[in-house]
Amino acid sequence: ASSFTSAMNLDQQGVSSIPQRYVLPPSQRPNIIHHDEHVLPLPIIDLSDFHDQSRRYQIINEIRNACKEFGFFQVINHGIDQSAINEALKAAEEFFNLPHEEKMCLFSDDVHKPVRYGTSLNHARDEVFCWRDFIKHYSHPLSDWLHLWPSNPPSYRKNMGNYAEAVQDLQTKLMEMIFESLGLNPSYLEEEVNGGSQLLAVNCYPACPEPELTLGIHPHSDYGSITVLLQTRSGLEFKNKNNNWEAVPLVEGGLVVQLGDQMEVLSNGVYKSVIHRATVNVDKKRFSIVSLHSFAMDKKIGPAKELVDDDHHQLPKCYNEFSFSEFLHFISNNDITKERFLDT
Ligand code: SIN
Ligand code: FE2
Repeated sequence: ASSFTSAMNLDQQGVSSIPQRYVLPPSQRPNIIHHDEHVLPLPIIDLSDFHDQSRRYQIINEIRNACKEFGFFQVINHGIDQSAINEALKAAEEFFNLPHEEKMCLFSDDVHKPVRYGTSLNHARDEVFCWRDFIKHYSHPLSDWLHLWPSNPPSYRKNMGNYAEAVQDLQTKLMEMIFESLGLNPSYLEEEVNGGSQLLAVNCYPACPEPELTLGIHPHSDYGSITVLLQTRSGLEFKNKNNNWEAVPLVEGGLVVQLGDQMEVLSNGVYKSVIHRATVNVDKKRFSIVSLHSFAMDKKIGPAKELVDDDHHQLPKCYNEFSFSEFLHFISNNDITKERFLDT
């Protein structure tokens, strides 16, 4: 790691072209966004008054449609204060502005490390690097992990911790509604949801002199149950049903909710995890705070038996079971691609 150069270093050095290591083959470059002839409006779901029974019914319908059609949606009036969001973003910005040497104390390529700073996705393995720096840390339950988090900037633990806890609460509400939208009991897998893991990935995508040649993060699906993502500018894109990339617009105060592989498996493919990537831009940094949730570490997740009914249902069992710990083992030995990981 001594010769490590992060995307942030390159930005600070004011490079006018990107090193070859970051240049994608032409077919994988982000320059062309195809738009379908009939572009469907991307779902923005207002969660206000979700305790009210008739509102809740409506929200769950919207969630079902969004999950079936896109595998993701955005939420507004989600109950997380804008001030908590702003403070977490400020902590992120201050962290990435620290001297390189200080951040490097947390550098690791080992996906099992509870706290790690890095660039790209996996610096040791990526053939083409991603134009991003990240800090990732486990976050739930917070008291188990907080003492391992960066101690600088001094506000980091408090501010990022508040946000992490607020997102964890939101996640449990969302999971209840997503289960309900599948026709399952809202308290389905309650213990695995509450006792599940939360990994916070805080990303900084520096300005990039040649954004058309590289990506902030390469196409992938998230492995867990759901991901709750906060972005400071647009850049997140997802692959739609017609295999075209579509930008997820920035919604002020909104959060993006994406389905992960565990949800695809649990729903027996009724819902699909969404393939996404992040582009970078020429003039300004972009930050994202990505909260990746998954069911309790060793809980094997397979298709819900309620959704696999040989007698009346059209759906045969489509997936094998997997636990988060098996997934971690898998990604430390392989490249992360849904196609390979979910192979049954
Ligand atoms: C991710 O998918 O992990 C990050 C995407 C983003 O930063 O928008
Ligand atoms: Fe992701």
